[in-house]
Amino acid sequence: LSILVLHGPNLNMLGKREPGVYGSTTLAEINNLLAEVALKLQAQVFPLQSNHEGVLVDAIHEALGKYQGILINAGAYTHTSVALRDAIAAVNLPTVEVHLSNIYRREEFRHHSYIAPVVIGQISGFGVQSYLLGLQALVEHLRGSGG
Ligand code: DQA
Repeated sequence: LSILVLHGPNLNMLGKREPGVYGSTTLAEINNLLAEVALKLQAQVFPLQSNHEGVLVDAIHEALGKYQGILINAGAYTHTSVALRDAIAAVNLPTVEVHLSNIYRREEFRHHSYIAPVVIGQISGFGVQSYLLGLQALVEHLRGSGG
């Protein structure tokens, strides 16, 4: 199984960025941990980070026929982007949404996700574990043993 891993805006700053909220793990370290978990699950992850909405939309379109699923932390676009939501709906690839922080215990503007209605499920609040749990859930879903 090949999984596209999308990281949205500002996630390239992980490690330096608000460590009290997002932890001290860098994006490169997260990608390495995802690759390790993928190996155990006999899957492969292909990470892409972008600060540009259109680049993320293009990547979702191009995932069709190339990847079996998408793991996404859309960052702030979670709360603003109808375009990302429509792209996920358009390709109709099984997608899992993850967030390092618990978006529901933060500012009210983070409580709404435009993406949530078009994904299988969402994992929010477990730091780096959100990504690893999300990957595991996505792979199990794709193999047919997920709920
Ligand atoms: C985030 C939560 C978003 O509200 C925020 O804009 C981010 C990161 C998270 O992983 O906790 O950039 O998606």
